[in-house]
Amino acid sequence: MTQARWNRDTLNLNRPDLLGQELADDAFRHLRAKLPVYWYQEGRRNVGFWNITKYEDVMFISRHPDLITSSKEIFSAYPRHVPEIDPEADDRGKHLIKMDPPRHDRMRRLVNRGFTPSAVNALEPLIREITGNILDDIERQERVDFVIDVASRLPLAVVCELVGIPKENRPITFHLTNKMLRATEPEYQADVPDEIRGTPEATRLTMHQGIQGMRAHIREHLRDRSAGRPDQLLSLLVDPGDCGTTITDDEIEWFAVLLMNAGQETTRNAISGGFRALCEHPGERRRLQEDMSLLPSAVEEILRWVSPVARMARVATGDVEIRRKQIKEGERVVMWYPSANFDEDVFEDPYTFDITRDPNDHLAFGIGEHGCLGAGFARLELKVMFEELFRRFPAIRLDGDPDDLCSNFIGGVKHLPVRLA
Ligand code: HEM
Repeated sequence: MTQARWNRDTLNLNRPDLLGQELADDAFRHLRAKLPVYWYQEGRRNVGFWNITKYEDVMFISRHPDLITSSKEIFSAYPRHVPEIDPEADDRGKHLIKMDPPRHDRMRRLVNRGFTPSAVNALEPLIREITGNILDDIERQERVDFVIDVASRLPLAVVCELVGIPKENRPITFHLTNKMLRATEPEYQADVPDEIRGTPEATRLTMHQGIQGMRAHIREHLRDRSAGRPDQLLSLLVDPGDCGTTITDDEIEWFAVLLMNAGQETTRNAISGGFRALCEHPGERRRLQEDMSLLPSAVEEILRWVSPVARMARVATGDVEIRRKQIKEGERVVMWYPSANFDEDVFEDPYTFDITRDPNDHLAFGIGEHGCLGAGFARLELKVMFEELFRRFPAIRLDGDPDDLCSNFIGGVKHLPVRLA
């Protein structure tokens, strides 16, 4: 690796095709070693963002919402944000994931009731049944697209169950999630004029269509629910019990939107990325298939290896110093999980895929205040899917090149051709 290779252009972590290429790994390795708190800006305007690549710093930021807040921005790395094109989509302070304490603590206490270990375990029979149905559907085919036909279907069905979305509406919610979270990918920019496809404008429009569409869909669903549709989770939220807090209609709406997105895209990429990693490391796959009791630790290694959420952003509430870099009030700070999860100071031999890695305190689910609410469901979905998949199709294998998603937010595969036998 030569010094000359790294300059402002090669270290552009804002490029939409960043992930899925070796470039990202190399860039993260370089940043961790030389520039762990790195300011990136495009052009001459003094507008840019800080890149955080060390594990310890991601932990520090995640645990200090008083210094570096989620309430102003979390998704966009660059200081351009959806409300700039659509004030109606401004979810700051209404969305669990964009709240600070003390409101966040109170709301989290309320929603935690739907995500306890017993709530997760209670769903296992249903998750196994859904997985069985998905595998039944592909049984007679020789070749399938693992992402579309397998990995995406389980998380979609689970979040729809949680939110109470009827089965017939799963395809539309899938379509809308793709628009929201995969907006940088031209394949999901079908509803913008041909001449702008692949441009930042197409990304903005696609994301806008996704957010508006999903909100409208959820609003209609919530109206239906008041007409008597059963759904346990949202009903639980409406009833504050002894939590000492209540939730507004707007907050319920945003929470349902959050679950639809956070629960689907992430787990889809963990399942497909995990299957890919196992195929690309046949020794580890053999070890697992010979001893499925290794699955819980294999799932943790998959989560570390894939790091399905690549980054979350924050904004400094005042001046703060990290590793002798002065971060000023209002500046945007971006935490990179695929870098923290490969930090040589924390993980021994981080670029080795080891299904028995121990300890494995990865940050794939984030940490602190906003640490993933749905981690229990995600782990269970991965466990059930790999158990059932290898039981039914022990010889399933890749059958063509994976087609990586064009994104610097989600580490994912768009299509993964596989042969079942
Ligand atoms: C492999 C799958 C998953 C990964 C990698 C993942 C990752 C993450 C990460 C990194 C965060 C932290 C965001 C931050 O600090 O700003 C988060 C938060 C969250 N996740 Fe997940 N997630 C996954 C699955 C799920 C599922 C299945 C659900 C719901 C069913 C879910 C719901 C949430 C929610 C509601 C939050 C916000 C929590 C809060 O702000 O208090 N996630 N997730």
